[in-house]
Formats: sequence, structure tokens, C-alpha cells
Amino acid sequence: MSRFYVTTPIYYVNDEPHIGHAYTTILADVVARFHRALGDETYFLTGTDEHGQKVQQAAEKRGVSPQQHVDEYVVRFQEKWDALNIQYDQFIRTTQDNHKSVVSFLLQKLWDKGLIYKDTYEGWYSVAEERFLTDKEYEEGEWRDVKRLSESNYWFKMSAYQEDLINYIHDNPDFIQPAFRKNEVLGFLRQELGDLCISRPKARLNWGIELPFDNEYVTYVWFDALTNYISAIGYPNQDETFKQWWPVDFHLIGKDILTTHAVYWPTMLMAADLPLPKTIFAHGWWLMGDAKMSKSLGNVVRPLDLANEYGVDALRYFLMREMTPGQDASFTMDGFISRYNSDLANDLGNMVNRITKLLGRNFDFILPDPGETMPVDSDLVQHVAALREKVASELDQMRVNYAITHVFDVLREINRYLEETAPWKLLKTDKDRAGAVLYNAAEALRLSAVHLYPVMPEKISQLLEVMGTSAKSRFSEDGWFEWGHNKPGTKLGKTDGLFPRIEVQEVPEEAPEKLDIKDEISFDDFMKMDIRVAKIIKAEKHPNADKLLKLQVDLGAEQRQVIAGIAEHYSPENLVGKSVSIVANLKPAKIRGELSQGMILAADDGKVVSPLIPLKDVDPGSKVR
Ligand code: MSP
Repeated sequence: MSRFYVTTPIYYVNDEPHIGHAYTTILADVVARFHRALGDETYFLTGTDEHGQKVQQAAEKRGVSPQQHVDEYVVRFQEKWDALNIQYDQFIRTTQDNHKSVVSFLLQKLWDKGLIYKDTYEGWYSVAEERFLTDKEYEEGEWRDVKRLSESNYWFKMSAYQEDLINYIHDNPDFIQPAFRKNEVLGFLRQELGDLCISRPKARLNWGIELPFDNEYVTYVWFDALTNYISAIGYPNQDETFKQWWPVDFHLIGKDILTTHAVYWPTMLMAADLPLPKTIFAHGWWLMGDAKMSKSLGNVVRPLDLANEYGVDALRYFLMREMTPGQDASFTMDGFISRYNSDLANDLGNMVNRITKLLGRNFDFILPDPGETMPVDSDLVQHVAALREKVASELDQMRVNYAITHVFDVLREINRYLEETAPWKLLKTDKDRAGAVLYNAAEALRLSAVHLYPVMPEKISQLLEVMGTSAKSRFSEDGWFEWGHNKPGTKLGKTDGLFPRIEVQEVPEEAPEKLDIKDEISFDDFMKMDIRVAKIIKAEKHPNADKLLKLQVDLGAEQRQVIAGIAEHYSPENLVGKSVSIVANLKPAKIRGELSQGMILAADDGKVVSPLIPLKDVDPGSKVR
């Protein structure tokens, strides 16, 4: 029997759990569930990082003790993980006694081995980052809240392990994944590796684990936090528990905490004479559109909000399907809904409905006999049989998204099989064969769906119940990954839709207003109009009306006076010299006491009024046709 140990980072207890935390935790849950389903002995560890300056400050602000603060805040993570159906084996908190004593033990061990020394350091200290900056960082970065500090501290001789670590990374290609992250770490290790400051003077910070060899200091949070991966499983007791689980199979982390995991942690383990993790896997970030999701940007998606609205499994599915582990992924509501509708409502949900309806109507919800196997049946069986290996090998590399695609490929095969065999037609000619086909389709569906169980435990449990697999014995039974596990005669359940479509309220586009056009006129009617180009030679305000201008225009052979209603849009001086078009044969009229011999043509969209002007210079009096 294989053993499988997987961890998530332990999250800062002060943080509000968000989709970034949820992603890693669900990923770990999915692979842990898959290994459990395969019968592997599995251990899944998650938890919270509860020491450090930020916790101390947050507690002070709330006027409570740091312990009370973390006790109250940790619940937020635990509740979210329960709500998201996370089946961890342990939730570790760095304020637990057993963890604290392991950190002390480890420090003492390194101290006794001469691997920790005290030294004074003077440099630029970032209060926000709670650490000294290198001179280069200080010069190149833009830092707030930086001060010059001289401090005596304890240092771990990390530099002593630089060569060993480089060699280890080269010799163990699976150690850091994906491969491009390995190169990033090797790049980092090309510079000289310094020693690691592992203490903070109590004068500055006292919410931490006291150094066993100097009670004026507490332990640097990362040294404390990383140790959780071994304290949780019983280190330093070299009894069965620790040996059984260590070295860990997968540390799942986000790319921003790669150095601490792939440099600090392995050197700490080397110093403690412990084997290194088998794989450190760094995934990318969830972005909102293009921006990293972060508290300060205020664009954090609350996973529970989505889960409440669309179901926990819909969220789990989306997160697992949408991110290619290692790369960044974008979260958008449109993406979420279209994934759900196309994969879950359409491909999977419709298939369940189709098969159970045919079986219900024609076989009274009793699984028929598979009868004799035809070549087309064997093809389907083979597709399904290949699935487990494919899914397992993707999951060995944390490629849950590809594992999911393999399942959907088989669903498409089932569709093809149904189209080819057409049981709805066979029902009229050969009911036994129709039954056999439906048995095969149902069994193929059950077996494909089983592979999605780790991703959507609730929904797939319901689906399996519909397919007639009894809920209680389901996963402890041998053979649930095997073809033929579901026997003829099994009573099927009913469903009124496992994945109801998410109906998106389309905002109706405003229909363009219908063109309100006057009655048709004949060509002759049109030809009765005489439109001419007129050059404005003088413009002034109408003496009796604010909205009107009095214009003198040149029509080549004669000059005329025209009254135009454009005073609100144009001032007289801007019009002089412009050529416009006028209806020249309009019967002259007196407008507010002034003669108008023609009318200027202007376009008017309700906002802008613009006289129609010729694009090129044409002589005044030219005809407009
Ligand atoms: N406490 C440390 C880890 C110590 S492990 C020994 C820590 N905690 S954290 O709460 O800030 O972050 C935990 C994880 O969340 C990191 O792996 C980080 O990459 C991940 N994420 C934070 N924001 C994220 C996204 N927007 N997307 C994906 N993961 C992100 O670091």
C-alpha cells in the first residue's frame, strides 16, 4: 500500500480566507481524496501561521491578548474549510504546545551542532516586511517605513549548505516543480547564499517562540512556520508515525513563497539530518482580470459567496478546471458561468438525464443486462479502462485540470457510442440490445464520474446514487474503479437535474429607434428643390430673437439675406467665410421682422447642430444635387 502526505502552506491567521488560500487547499483536498480513493494511506495537513508582528499589532489594536486574538481568528479558516468540504487530517496551529516544543527542539539541536551563532548586524530594516533589506534591495526598491537598525541576532549557517542544495536540485528533477520554478531557484542560488537570521529581540517583538538558548529572543516566523510540516507528524519522535510520513510527497505552495520553501526549508532539514521533501510544487496566482487578487486592491473574491450561490462543488470544479498548475489564471464571473454551463450543466448533467430517462421509461429504472459484448462496446470499455491511469498520472504532477479533461473526453466517447448504437431506435426492434447498450453507457458514465469524485464529492455522490451505487459502501468497496461493478438488476435513482443551468439575465440591448421618415416623394418633387452653395459674407445676431442669426450670403450671381436658427450653436464671427448649403427657391418670408430668402441646411441629432458644408472649395451658387 502506498503512502501519500500532502501539505498546504499554513495561512496567516490574520488574513481573511480568500480564493488564493481556497485554491491550494482544494487542490490538496482533491489529490488527497484521490489517493484515499485508490486505497493509499493518506495524510493531508493544513493550518495557520499565528506568530509575528502583524498578529501582535492586530491584537493590540483590538485590545485583546495575541492568544485570544488568534483563537478567535483561526475559526474563520476552519469554518471556510468545512464549508468547502475540505477533508484534512490535521489543522495545525503554530501556537500549539507540541509545535512550539518541536521548534525549540530543532533550534537547540542546530545550536548544539554549532550551526547557529550570534552576531551584530547593522542595516536597513523594513517594518512592514519585518526584516532587514539587503543594501541592493534598499537601493533598488521603493520602501515605506524603513529605518536603520543595529541589532544582535542569532544566525543559522544557511550558507554552509549552498553547494549541497544545488547538487540536490540537480540530482532530483522532481524536487521543485514545475521545472521552470526549479530554474528560478537555481538562478537564485547562483549568487552567494547568506546566513539566515532566525531570531527577533523581544524588545521589538515578543509574540513568538522563545529561543531555547536565549530568552531575550523569539524565533523568526518563517523558521517557526516551516517547522510545522514535521512537528505535525510527530518529529522528533523517530517512532512509526514520523517515519511513515516523512519525507512529504508534496508541499503545495504559491509561487511567492518559493524561496522560503525551496531554500530556507531544505537547508534547515539538511542541518537537522532529515531527508528533503519529495516535491515542492509552486502554483501561480489567481488574478482578477489581470490584477493579482489582494486585500489592498480590494478585489478579493470571497469563495464562500460563490459557493453559497452556485454550490460548493461548482466552485471547486471551476478552480480546479480553470488553472493550469504553475501558471496564473484569471477569475471572471463570465468564465465561471460559462464553464459551469458548458461542462457541468451540458456535458455531464445532460448525459445523466438522457441515460436515466431512457432507462426509467423503458426499463423501469432497473439496470438491464449487458448481454453479449459487441466490438463497439469493447471500444467504449477500453476508453473507460484507460481513464484511471491517465487521471493518476496527471495528478502525480498536480495537473488536475488535465485529469478533468480526460474524464470529459470519455463523456464525449459515451455520446459517440450512443449516437452510433442509437438505443432509442433499437428499443423498437431489439429491446435486449437496447438494454445492453444502456447498461454500457450507464456503467461508462458511472466510472467516468467516479474520477470526478475528488473534485466534486457531493455532486458525484448524488450522481452515483442516481446510477444505483449505494451511498454507504461506495468507496470502501473493492472494484469501484472497475468495469462491471454495477450489476444488472440494480435499481437506479431519479434526478431532476444535478447541475441546473445558470440562467444569465441578458440585459436587452436597446433597440435602435425606428427611422421616422416622411411620406415618399417623386423624383420630380425632389427636382423642384433648388439647393445651392452659399458663402456667408456677413453674420450678426437677429435684432429680435436670441436663437436666430441674420446672415448675408453670396450665391455668385447675387447676394441674399437668410435667417438661420443656429445662434445657440455658433457665434456669428465663426461663420463668416464658411460655405453652406441653402434651399434657394424657398418662398421668401419675414422671420421676426427680418426677411429670409432661403434656408440653411443643417444636420441635427438633438445634441449637435451642424450646417452642411461642401468638402471641397466650390464656387458660391453651385448646384447641390
Ligand atoms: N504564512 C505563510 C506561509 C507559511 S508556510 C510554512 C503565508 N501565508 S499566506 O496566508 O500569506 O499565503 C498562503 C498562500 O496563499 C501562499 O501560497 C500564496 O501564494 C497563496 N496566495 C495568496 N494570494 C493568492 C492568489 N491571488 N492566488 C493564488 N494563491 C495566492 O505566506
